[in-house]
Amino acid sequence: MATPLFSALISAVHVVGIAGAVSFSALRLVALRRRDVDAIRFADNGNGMAAIALYGAGLYRLFGELEKPLAFYTANHVFWTKMGLLAVAFLLELYPQYVVLPWHIRVSRKLPVEPKPGQIERMFTLAAWQLPCLLGAIFCAALMARGIGLPKAPASTEASAATATAGQRLYEQHCQACHQADGRGLQARAAADFTASPGVLDKSDDELMRSLMQGRSGSIGTMPAMSPMLSEAQLRETLGFVRERFGAGR
Ligand code: HEC
Repeated sequence: MATPLFSALISAVHVVGIAGAVSFSALRLVALRRRDVDAIRFADNGNGMAAIALYGAGLYRLFGELEKPLAFYTANHVFWTKMGLLAVAFLLELYPQYVVLPWHIRVSRKLPVEPKPGQIERMFTLAAWQLPCLLGAIFCAALMARGIGLPKAPASTEASAATATAGQRLYEQHCQACHQADGRGLQARAAADFTASPGVLDKSDDELMRSLMQGRSGSIGTMPAMSPMLSEAQLRETLGFVRERFGAGR
Protein backbone atom coordinates (compact mmCIF):
# COMPACT_ATOMS: atom_id res chain seq x y z
CA MET A 1 0.00 0.00 0.00
CA ALA A 2 1.22 3.48 -0.82
CA THR A 3 1.33 6.45 1.54
CA PRO A 4 -1.96 8.41 1.62
CA LEU A 5 -0.23 11.45 0.07
CA PHE A 6 1.05 9.47 -2.90
CA SER A 7 -2.18 7.61 -3.54
CA ALA A 8 -4.09 10.91 -3.24
CA LEU A 9 -1.77 12.38 -5.89
CA ILE A 10 -2.35 9.49 -8.29
CA SER A 11 -6.06 9.65 -7.57
CA ALA A 12 -6.05 13.39 -8.40
CA VAL A 13 -4.28 12.71 -11.72
CA HIS A 14 -6.94 10.09 -12.43
CA VAL A 15 -9.74 12.60 -11.74
CA VAL A 16 -8.09 15.26 -13.94
CA GLY A 17 -7.86 12.63 -16.68
CA ILE A 18 -11.57 11.88 -16.36
CA ALA A 19 -12.51 15.55 -16.44
CA GLY A 20 -10.24 16.10 -19.45
CA ALA A 21 -11.58 13.09 -21.33
CA VAL A 22 -15.18 14.22 -20.88
CA SER A 23 -14.43 17.86 -21.76
CA PHE A 24 -12.34 17.14 -24.83
CA SER A 25 -14.73 14.44 -26.01
CA ALA A 26 -17.57 16.95 -25.87
CA LEU A 27 -15.40 19.61 -27.50
CA ARG A 28 -14.52 17.23 -30.33
CA LEU A 29 -18.18 16.51 -30.89
CA VAL A 30 -18.81 20.24 -31.41
CA ALA A 31 -15.74 20.58 -33.62
CA LEU A 32 -16.85 17.62 -35.76
CA ARG A 33 -20.31 19.08 -36.17
CA ARG A 34 -18.72 22.32 -37.37
CA ARG A 35 -16.31 20.36 -39.59
CA ASP A 36 -13.55 22.53 -38.13
CA VAL A 37 -10.33 20.59 -38.76
CA ASP A 38 -8.16 22.74 -36.47
CA ALA A 39 -10.62 22.44 -33.59
CA ILE A 40 -10.87 18.67 -34.16
CA ARG A 41 -7.09 18.40 -33.97
CA PHE A 42 -7.00 20.52 -30.82
CA ALA A 43 -9.65 18.39 -29.11
CA ASP A 44 -7.86 15.27 -30.27
CA ASN A 45 -4.58 16.40 -28.68
CA GLY A 46 -6.37 17.22 -25.43
CA ASN A 47 -8.13 13.89 -25.50
CA GLY A 48 -4.81 12.11 -25.98
CA MET A 49 -3.28 13.75 -22.93
CA ALA A 50 -6.40 13.14 -20.86
CA ALA A 51 -6.37 9.48 -21.91
CA ILE A 52 -2.78 9.08 -20.73
CA ALA A 53 -3.71 10.53 -17.33
CA LEU A 54 -6.97 8.59 -17.08
CA TYR A 55 -5.80 5.16 -18.21
CA GLY A 56 -2.24 5.54 -16.88
CA ALA A 57 -3.20 6.60 -13.36
CA GLY A 58 -6.17 4.23 -13.31
CA LEU A 59 -4.19 1.16 -14.28
CA TYR A 60 -1.36 2.15 -11.96
CA ARG A 61 -3.80 2.45 -9.05
CA LEU A 62 -5.27 -0.90 -9.93
CA PHE A 63 -2.19 -3.01 -10.52
CA GLY A 64 0.06 -1.05 -8.16
CA GLU A 65 -2.49 -1.96 -5.44
CA LEU A 66 -2.03 1.56 -4.06
CA GLU A 67 -5.14 1.49 -1.90
CA LYS A 68 -6.85 -1.85 -2.18
CA PRO A 69 -5.75 -5.28 -3.30
CA LEU A 70 -6.59 -6.15 -6.89
CA ALA A 71 -9.05 -8.79 -5.69
CA PHE A 72 -11.12 -6.07 -4.04
CA TYR A 73 -11.93 -4.69 -7.51
CA THR A 74 -12.07 -7.87 -9.55
CA ALA A 75 -14.75 -9.29 -7.24
CA ASN A 76 -16.98 -6.27 -7.90
CA HIS A 77 -19.38 -6.46 -10.85
CA VAL A 78 -19.75 -2.67 -11.05
CA PHE A 79 -15.99 -2.55 -11.51
CA TRP A 80 -16.27 -4.85 -14.54
CA THR A 81 -19.08 -2.70 -15.96
CA LYS A 82 -16.80 0.31 -15.58
CA MET A 83 -13.89 -1.50 -17.26
CA GLY A 84 -16.20 -2.60 -20.08
CA LEU A 85 -17.36 0.97 -20.69
CA LEU A 86 -13.79 2.27 -20.68
CA ALA A 87 -12.74 -0.49 -23.07
CA VAL A 88 -15.56 0.49 -25.46
CA ALA A 89 -14.55 4.18 -25.13
CA PHE A 90 -11.00 3.13 -26.01
CA LEU A 91 -12.08 1.09 -29.04
CA LEU A 92 -14.24 3.96 -30.30
CA GLU A 93 -11.04 5.99 -30.35
CA LEU A 94 -9.22 3.75 -32.86
CA TYR A 95 -10.92 5.04 -36.00
CA PRO A 96 -10.59 8.77 -35.10
CA GLN A 97 -6.89 8.19 -34.38
CA TYR A 98 -6.50 6.43 -37.72
CA VAL A 99 -8.03 9.49 -39.42
CA VAL A 100 -6.54 12.32 -37.38
CA LEU A 101 -2.96 11.06 -37.07
CA PRO A 102 -2.24 11.69 -40.78
CA TRP A 103 -3.79 15.16 -40.36
CA HIS A 104 -1.31 15.99 -37.62
CA ILE A 105 1.52 14.81 -39.87
CA ARG A 106 0.26 16.85 -42.83
CA VAL A 107 -0.06 19.98 -40.70
CA SER A 108 3.48 19.55 -39.36
CA ARG A 109 4.63 19.44 -43.00
CA LYS A 110 2.52 22.52 -43.75
CA LEU A 111 0.32 20.56 -46.15
CA PRO A 112 -3.45 21.23 -46.35
CA VAL A 113 -5.79 18.79 -44.60
CA GLU A 114 -8.67 17.48 -46.67
CA PRO A 115 -10.96 15.03 -44.90
CA LYS A 116 -12.14 12.22 -47.16
CA PRO A 117 -15.90 11.95 -47.74
CA GLY A 118 -17.69 10.33 -44.80
CA GLN A 119 -14.74 10.52 -42.38
CA ILE A 120 -16.10 13.40 -40.34
CA GLU A 121 -19.58 11.84 -40.20
CA ARG A 122 -18.18 8.49 -39.04
CA MET A 123 -16.04 10.18 -36.40
CA PHE A 124 -19.06 12.13 -35.18
CA THR A 125 -21.08 8.95 -34.72
CA LEU A 126 -18.25 7.27 -32.79
CA ALA A 127 -17.62 10.37 -30.66
CA ALA A 128 -21.32 10.56 -29.85
CA TRP A 129 -21.13 7.02 -28.44
CA GLN A 130 -17.92 7.68 -26.55
CA LEU A 131 -19.36 10.38 -24.33
CA PRO A 132 -22.08 8.22 -22.70
CA CYS A 133 -19.49 5.46 -22.16
CA LEU A 134 -17.30 7.88 -20.21
CA LEU A 135 -20.24 9.23 -18.22
CA GLY A 136 -21.36 5.68 -17.47
CA ALA A 137 -17.88 4.79 -16.22
CA ILE A 138 -17.95 7.83 -13.93
CA PHE A 139 -21.30 6.74 -12.55
CA CYS A 140 -19.90 3.25 -11.90
CA ALA A 141 -16.98 4.79 -10.01
CA ALA A 142 -19.44 6.80 -7.90
CA LEU A 143 -21.37 3.60 -7.13
CA MET A 144 -18.20 1.75 -6.18
CA ALA A 145 -17.12 4.57 -3.87
CA ARG A 146 -20.34 3.87 -1.98
CA GLY A 147 -19.58 0.20 -1.63
CA ILE A 148 -22.15 -0.87 -4.25
CA GLY A 149 -21.32 -3.91 -6.37
CA LEU A 150 -19.33 -5.74 -3.75
CA PRO A 151 -20.06 -9.45 -3.83
CA LYS A 152 -22.72 -10.75 -1.52
CA ALA A 153 -21.33 -13.16 1.00
CA PRO A 154 -21.98 -16.74 -0.03
CA ALA A 155 -25.51 -17.58 1.07
CA SER A 156 -25.41 -19.35 4.38
CA THR A 157 -26.59 -22.91 4.26
CA GLU A 158 -30.11 -23.32 5.58
CA ALA A 159 -28.97 -25.04 8.73
CA SER A 160 -26.49 -22.34 9.68
CA ALA A 161 -28.94 -19.60 8.61
CA ALA A 162 -31.39 -20.99 11.14
CA THR A 163 -28.87 -20.87 13.96
CA ALA A 164 -27.07 -17.67 12.88
CA THR A 165 -27.82 -14.61 14.96
CA ALA A 166 -29.20 -11.48 13.33
CA GLY A 167 -25.80 -9.85 13.87
CA GLN A 168 -24.03 -12.62 12.02
CA ARG A 169 -26.43 -12.47 9.09
CA LEU A 170 -26.03 -8.70 8.85
CA TYR A 171 -22.26 -9.10 9.03
CA GLU A 172 -22.30 -11.62 6.17
CA GLN A 173 -24.49 -9.38 4.05
CA HIS A 174 -23.01 -5.98 4.69
CA CYS A 175 -19.49 -6.28 6.09
CA GLN A 176 -17.91 -9.55 5.04
CA ALA A 177 -17.04 -8.49 1.48
CA CYS A 178 -14.47 -6.09 2.92
CA HIS A 179 -13.75 -7.46 6.39
CA GLN A 180 -13.86 -11.11 5.25
CA ALA A 181 -15.21 -14.17 7.00
CA ASP A 182 -12.12 -14.35 9.22
CA GLY A 183 -12.52 -10.67 10.22
CA ARG A 184 -9.02 -9.87 9.04
CA GLY A 185 -9.97 -7.69 6.04
CA LEU A 186 -7.52 -9.39 3.65
CA GLN A 187 -4.65 -8.94 6.10
CA ALA A 188 -5.87 -5.39 6.80
CA ARG A 189 -5.39 -4.44 3.15
CA ALA A 190 -9.10 -4.12 2.30
CA ALA A 191 -10.53 -3.25 5.72
CA ALA A 192 -9.66 -3.08 9.42
CA ASP A 193 -8.39 -6.37 10.88
CA PHE A 194 -10.68 -7.07 13.87
CA THR A 195 -8.37 -9.77 15.24
CA ALA A 196 -5.41 -7.38 15.62
CA SER A 197 -4.43 -6.64 19.19
CA PRO A 198 -3.97 -3.84 19.97
CA GLY A 199 -6.55 -3.01 17.34
CA VAL A 200 -9.73 -1.20 16.42
CA LEU A 201 -11.83 -3.26 18.81
CA ASP A 202 -10.00 -1.61 21.72
CA LYS A 203 -12.02 1.50 20.91
CA SER A 204 -15.27 2.21 22.72
CA ASP A 205 -18.66 1.25 21.30
CA ASP A 206 -19.50 4.93 20.90
CA GLU A 207 -16.44 5.55 18.79
CA LEU A 208 -16.98 2.49 16.62
CA MET A 209 -20.68 3.28 16.18
CA ARG A 210 -19.70 6.73 14.97
CA SER A 211 -17.36 5.16 12.37
CA LEU A 212 -20.14 2.86 11.23
CA MET A 213 -22.82 5.54 11.04
CA GLN A 214 -20.68 8.17 9.36
CA GLY A 215 -18.11 6.07 7.54
CA ARG A 216 -14.40 6.34 8.10
CA SER A 217 -11.29 7.07 6.04
CA GLY A 218 -7.93 6.12 7.44
CA SER A 219 -4.63 4.52 6.59
CA ILE A 220 -6.29 1.33 5.32
CA GLY A 221 -8.86 2.96 3.11
CA THR A 222 -12.43 4.16 3.26
CA MET A 223 -15.42 2.49 4.83
CA PRO A 224 -18.59 4.05 3.46
CA ALA A 225 -21.23 5.18 5.95
CA MET A 226 -23.34 2.15 6.83
CA SER A 227 -26.29 4.16 8.13
CA PRO A 228 -28.07 4.37 4.78
CA MET A 229 -28.29 0.57 4.70
CA LEU A 230 -28.69 -0.37 8.32
CA SER A 231 -30.47 1.14 11.29
CA GLU A 232 -28.59 2.09 14.42
CA ALA A 233 -30.00 -0.94 16.22
CA GLN A 234 -28.89 -3.25 13.43
CA LEU A 235 -25.41 -1.74 13.50
CA ARG A 236 -25.19 -2.30 17.27
CA GLU A 237 -26.27 -5.88 16.70
CA THR A 238 -23.57 -6.34 14.02
CA LEU A 239 -20.90 -4.70 16.14
CA GLY A 240 -21.88 -7.04 18.97
CA PHE A 241 -21.34 -10.00 16.67
CA VAL A 242 -17.96 -8.60 15.56
CA ARG A 243 -16.79 -8.22 19.16
CA GLU A 244 -18.02 -11.67 20.08
CA ARG A 245 -16.61 -13.51 17.06
CA PHE A 246 -13.31 -11.70 16.49
CA GLY A 247 -12.69 -9.64 19.61
CA ALA A 248 -11.52 -12.34 22.02
CA GLY A 249 -13.52 -10.77 24.85
CA ARG A 250 -12.81 -7.16 23.89
C1 HEC B 1 -16.41 -1.15 1.48
C2 HEC B 1 -15.66 -1.91 2.47
C3 HEC B 1 -16.20 -1.99 3.88
C4 HEC B 1 -17.43 -2.42 4.29
C5 HEC B 1 -18.58 -2.90 3.42
C6 HEC B 1 -17.40 -2.37 5.74
N1 HEC B 1 -16.20 -1.90 6.16
FE1 HEC B 1 -15.64 -1.63 8.09
N2 HEC B 1 -13.91 -0.79 7.48
C7 HEC B 1 -13.49 -0.71 6.18
C8 HEC B 1 -12.21 -0.04 6.15
C9 HEC B 1 -11.39 0.26 4.89
C10 HEC B 1 -11.90 0.29 7.47
C11 HEC B 1 -10.65 0.98 7.99
C12 HEC B 1 -10.72 2.47 7.82
C13 HEC B 1 -9.41 3.03 8.29
O1 HEC B 1 -8.47 3.02 7.49
O2 HEC B 1 -9.35 3.44 9.45
C14 HEC B 1 -12.99 -0.20 8.30
C15 HEC B 1 -13.04 -0.07 9.66
C16 HEC B 1 -14.01 -0.64 10.46
C17 HEC B 1 -14.05 -0.56 11.91
C18 HEC B 1 -13.07 0.23 12.77
C19 HEC B 1 -13.54 1.67 12.83
C20 HEC B 1 -12.63 2.57 13.61
O3 HEC B 1 -13.16 3.54 14.19
O4 HEC B 1 -11.42 2.35 13.62
C21 HEC B 1 -15.13 -1.26 12.33
C22 HEC B 1 -15.58 -1.50 13.76
C23 HEC B 1 -15.78 -1.75 11.13
N3 HEC B 1 -15.08 -1.36 10.03
C24 HEC B 1 -16.93 -2.53 11.15
C25 HEC B 1 -17.69 -2.78 10.02
C26 HEC B 1 -19.01 -3.35 10.04
C27 HEC B 1 -19.72 -3.83 11.30
C28 HEC B 1 -19.45 -3.40 8.77
C29 HEC B 1 -20.81 -3.87 8.25
C30 HEC B 1 -21.97 -3.26 8.83
C31 HEC B 1 -18.39 -2.86 7.92
N4 HEC B 1 -17.36 -2.49 8.72
C32 HEC B 1 -18.45 -2.75 6.53
C33 HEC B 1 -14.14 -1.16 5.05
C34 HEC B 1 -15.44 -1.65 5.06
